[in-house]
Amino acid sequence: MPTLLVCSACDNLQVLADRMATEAARVLPGLQVTLWPEPFEADDVLAVAAWHPPAGLLGTLPKLQMVASIGAGTEHILRCPDLPADVAVTRIVDPAQARGMAEYVLWAALYYHRGFDQMAAQQRQGLWHMPPQGPARAFRVGIMGLGGMGLQTALCLRDFGFAVSGWSRSAHAVEDLHTFAGDAALPEFLAPLDMVVCLLPLTPATHGLCNAGFFARMKTGAALVNVGRGEQVVLPDLLAALDSGHLRGAVLDVFDREPLQADDALWRHPKICLTPHMASSASDQTIAQQIVTNTLRLRQGLLPLHTMDRQRGY
Ligand code: OXD
Repeated sequence: MPTLLVCSACDNLQVLADRMATEAARVLPGLQVTLWPEPFEADDVLAVAAWHPPAGLLGTLPKLQMVASIGAGTEHILRCPDLPADVAVTRIVDPAQARGMAEYVLWAALYYHRGFDQMAAQQRQGLWHMPPQGPARAFRVGIMGLGGMGLQTALCLRDFGFAVSGWSRSAHAVEDLHTFAGDAALPEFLAPLDMVVCLLPLTPATHGLCNAGFFARMKTGAALVNVGRGEQVVLPDLLAALDSGHLRGAVLDVFDREPLQADDALWRHPKICLTPHMASSASDQTIAQQIVTNTLRLRQGLLPLHTMDRQRGY
């Protein structure tokens, strides 16, 4: 029986697999949804829905046509050495997830703009000291990554009143948004910003992008928000920039190893506000609908939607 195999080397996807089975019963009866490592026939697997696929699994499925990420990012699939060259790799594209991301970054901008980081430190010391207050338009936020989520985030903050600019690897012209493109424009983009937001996909070009040289180009007293991928920030370099007083603080939602271990010193760093990869996620229902619909499209001989450019990595 044609099978959609749901798998993750690090997360329990039982609830999502149940959703997919319900969705399959509705739109594609006859599709078997199996949660790895339950038994399955390798020859029957048409599609895989994955979050960090178990090592060595993808290369054992001779009829595989699609590997679907259950998230917005696909780097965890693209870096599998056994990913067959000819299968489609898809991602979730969800306007509600983009809206959630915009909310999270808006919160971070308000957090720094209104000085809640400093107020939390003052509260610990019992210090009553009213900080100077300025308009949102005087607080400059730079969004790195102008795909669906980055763009919605930039427009949300701009419409709220912040002074927003954007940077991406290739040029994006957006009405009423000052944009920069490419490595050569990075110093000019970074220099005036009060808060830099990394919302880039993880590719070889963005791996380690936020390093000592990058932080040195940021304004003294600026803050970093990472909602892209942990591997984009060189943590020892970030800690050095925070501890020297060059950077004001960092909001980190993603880490190169998740979940972050309870004894990790990052939890206790006074200038880091840390959240557990919760900036924004698509709902299980949306994920199930998009992946089952794409599996149906494969059965109909159509190309799946939201397919990645495997060369570019996004
Ligand atoms: C992701 C997601 O890809 O949460 O990080 O969707």
